[in-house]
Amino acid sequence: MASPRNPTTTPPPRRKYDIVVFGATGYTGKLTCETILKHAPSSLRWAIAGRSPQRLELLQHEWNRSYPDRVPVQTFICDLSEVQIEALVKATALLITTVGPYIRYGTPVLEACAVYGTHYVDCTGEYPWTYEMVKRCHKTAKNRGAIIIPQCGVESAPADLSTWALIKAVREGFNTGTGKVTFALHKIKGKTSGGTFETVLNLFETATLQELHESSRYNSICPAKAPEQPYQYPVRRDPDLGFVSPSISGTADRVQVFRSWGLFDSGVYYGENFIWSEVLQRRNRAHAIVTWLVLNILGVCMIVAPLRWILKKIRPFAPGEGPNEEQRKNNMIEYHGIAEADDDSETPRKAFVNFKGPDPYEVTAILMVEVALAILHDKNSLARKLGGGVLTPATVASPHLIQRLDRAGIHIETKLF
Ligand SMILES: NC(=O)c1ccc[n+]([C@@H]2O[C@H](COP(=O)([O-])OP(=O)(O)OC[C@H]3O[C@@H](n4cnc5c(N)ncnc54)[C@H](OP(=O)(O)O)[C@@H]3O)[C@@H](O)[C@H]2O)c1
Repeated sequence: MASPRNPTTTPPPRRKYDIVVFGATGYTGKLTCETILKHAPSSLRWAIAGRSPQRLELLQHEWNRSYPDRVPVQTFICDLSEVQIEALVKATALLITTVGPYIRYGTPVLEACAVYGTHYVDCTGEYPWTYEMVKRCHKTAKNRGAIIIPQCGVESAPADLSTWALIKAVREGFNTGTGKVTFALHKIKGKTSGGTFETVLNLFETATLQELHESSRYNSICPAKAPEQPYQYPVRRDPDLGFVSPSISGTADRVQVFRSWGLFDSGVYYGENFIWSEVLQRRNRAHAIVTWLVLNILGVCMIVAPLRWILKKIRPFAPGEGPNEEQRKNNMIEYHGIAEADDDSETPRKAFVNFKGPDPYEVTAILMVEVALAILHDKNSLARKLGGGVLTPATVASPHLIQRLDRAGIHIETKLF
């Protein structure tokens, strides 16, 4: 990785674009653009960026024809050269990038945003890369006022925003901090895109076991001293959620949630005795045990190179492809979460959260776009008060963001019991 550069210019007060989507020709990039077209204000000045002028122009033509009442979308040609990335990030107030694998392509892009004070959102799930970016770019981003939010797709925004919603419900309903939170993937229907498959395999090819281990600690990017976490059996029966097993996204989501814990008042707002885990809800004990075994076997396949090669051969889609609109229609994702009030009682009062959305890739696109709009427009967010840095989706959470997500098809509801 190259060393951080010094900025040569002060960013102008208003950039040419409000948002640029880099990777717009890819599967997730196109869905992100379609979300902007459907849900962002029509006055948004925006552009699509990528390395193929012909493919960008086709998309530009199609979208400008279909949405004549919007400010027309522009194109921006950008490969991954330093000169072009600089030109790209200086042209926009905020960059959404879906160019992955991020561990392979993402560093110069995120770093340039930090250096030139450009806000940034991505949908990586590659937590060793996020770990590296926090260490490398947080201070620069803060000095330059750039709000940088990685892991803003299905990994790890549902966990981070739902936990924020639980904490808020417990604070407002019981006037106390939160103790234990169990967050569960309740139901998912959807298939993995070729780009995601490539990214997961690439992560295990690229990161060393030491890097994976270091970055997977629950407090690896937590900016304050986080409470010790108790051991919890991988397969267990939760009193509210039933039988549960470990979740595939649990590690990526947990580091993000603990970063939020520390960013909010060094853990005081969330709760000094905060315990957090992510699980999969299963039908019964046997289902939970089988899931746990399958996840362990998958883990071994990722680490052992010849087994990874076999996985590559059976991937459902090639890079650039994923389920089409018809196939996505019946897809969905739903999470449940339980938070216990930290009130020293034997039977703690609790809050429940339900996060429900459409196809997981559409959820990713909606989360990135709505978080991007919150970064640009919400002057009272914690992210603004912190003055920027490598932050989390929860730092721009607000009732207004929850309402906007609701209008776009993602429902986050809490209740106390
Ligand atoms: N964890 C989550 O929640 C989540 C959810 C969704 C996606 N993702 C991640 O998002 C990333 C994209 O996924 P996807 O399915 O959309 O992949 P994809 O369809 O293969 O798209 C990748 C994009 O990156 C661009 N690209 C690749 N190499 C480039 C280069 N050298 N210069 C410029 N552009 C380049 C591609 O451009 P061309 O079109 O020109 O090839 C394409 O636009 C993956 O890393 C995936 O893991 C994560």
